[in-house]
Amino acid sequence: MSDWNKLKSYRAAQGDLRITELFDADHTRATGFCAEAEGMVFDYSKTLIDTEARDLLLALADNADLASRREAMFTGEKINETEGRAVLHTALRNLSGSVTVDGADVMPEVRAIHERMSDFARAVRNGSFAGQGGAITDVVNIGIGGSDLGPAMAALALAPYHDGPRVHFVSNVDGADIHDTLDGLNPETTLVIVASKTFTTIETMTNAQTARDWMAGKVSDPGAQFAALSSAVEKTAEFGIDPARVFGFEDWVGGRYSMWGPIGLSLMIAVGPEGFDQFLSGGAAMDTHFRRAPLAENLPVLLALTGIWHNQVCGYPTRAVLPYDNRLMRLPAYLQQLEMESNGKGVAMDGSDLEVASGPVVWGEPGTNGQHAFYQLIHQGTAVVPCEFMLAARGHEPDLAHHHILLCANCLAQSEALMRGRSLDEARALMQAKGLTGAELDRQARHRVFKGNRPSITLLFNQLTPFVLGQIVALYEHRVFVEGVILGINSFDQWGVELGKELALKVEPLLKGQDMPGHDASTLHLAAEVRRLRGE
Ligand code: F6P
Repeated sequence: MSDWNKLKSYRAAQGDLRITELFDADHTRATGFCAEAEGMVFDYSKTLIDTEARDLLLALADNADLASRREAMFTGEKINETEGRAVLHTALRNLSGSVTVDGADVMPEVRAIHERMSDFARAVRNGSFAGQGGAITDVVNIGIGGSDLGPAMAALALAPYHDGPRVHFVSNVDGADIHDTLDGLNPETTLVIVASKTFTTIETMTNAQTARDWMAGKVSDPGAQFAALSSAVEKTAEFGIDPARVFGFEDWVGGRYSMWGPIGLSLMIAVGPEGFDQFLSGGAAMDTHFRRAPLAENLPVLLALTGIWHNQVCGYPTRAVLPYDNRLMRLPAYLQQLEMESNGKGVAMDGSDLEVASGPVVWGEPGTNGQHAFYQLIHQGTAVVPCEFMLAARGHEPDLAHHHILLCANCLAQSEALMRGRSLDEARALMQAKGLTGAELDRQARHRVFKGNRPSITLLFNQLTPFVLGQIVALYEHRVFVEGVILGINSFDQWGVELGKELALKVEPLLKGQDMPGHDASTLHLAAEVRRLRGE
């Protein structure tokens, strides 16, 4: 029997086993299904993974050769086989290391760029780099996907650590995005950072041109207030950006893994090079843990195995990421790209079709807001949605400690309620206490039943510091890697997205009234309708 079939049979044999029964049978479960790395606690006890399921899952990882794939990644082997590239975002956060790609140590260049970024960030922060109107007050990062989501998510997450200029993020080609962002900014004191690995992405190049036009009205040399973050250094020169303000990186840094290097410049300017280095240290600490800890105590491995259990084994098609931290508001969107662009693939590395599902839909919102929106479905809907809670023991507002206690209470209460549910008897007792009797009691009680047995995991940490954010991001990156290895796919290409980029260019002429062969009748009709509604 294949490892997958063993797991599926095991799950089938569990039948309608309840998570609470696992706790009744094993009084050490609360600690036995919990792991820790450098102050970060991962609790997966509120799932149906028991000792035997865990052993089967660990065997899956072992048989996928996880340990050697992991070493291959860290040591610069070209594991991104469809693009012939190494995968070395980890090198960006372990600056003292040495890694060889194509016979050369890449680290001297990584360190040099990091130093140039730090010098530039310091100059922007202390005013020695200024705009035409004086010290930089606002930084606008223009990028999309991996050139936006990471720094945008992190800049919000680390707001309490901001002591530099304000940072803004523009990504969407919708003119509303750049319009609303630039509205109210002073072009004479604004720095624009064009973040694009390829420097060809249509959204980013369109927004960059619009920003330059906006600045040109007020600033005599707009190019002097632009910086670029890109692997395509020659293209940044064509755009007119001085090489002194171009920060390059190699093709072995994937877009969605790139916030640790130059793509993190806006974050570095906001929190300062020292804060940014703390973020790198958190990522590096998670790398060391991932590389050294036994699989059964390894946070990224365990997180990946719970993901595999819920999606590929139990068949739950989505997972909800529920940070009980308002500043992690953009984390679900960040994880959508990280997880779904990496592992949303139906073909294995060897070209065969996947034997199991390719990976779940990832979605979510911070608690407690989500509780008043979609949690209804999570508690009482027919679909099971595994929940991934995140919680800091401490907030950053000592004067508002009572808010934080309530926040924590809500988070813990949700996972408890999801697991325990409420039986018909309990619901009836509640209704009886309210004075209901007879048929009305029965009818009302049924609506108040929660089946429970809904799985969740909880990630706990002390406080959302730069170091902890680095741990979290690296934890999820490695989770994606482990899941990808187990599925046998390449987590580091994104051919599905490339298609979208090509197709938009083929549709654009239709909207300008030009003929373009090869489109289906519906697309032609919709394009014609857009033109009609515009009065063209
Ligand atoms: O969305 C597809 C993608 O290729 C991402 O992987 C990448 O992060 C994004 O586009 C932006 O690409 P670039 O940095 O080259 O502009």
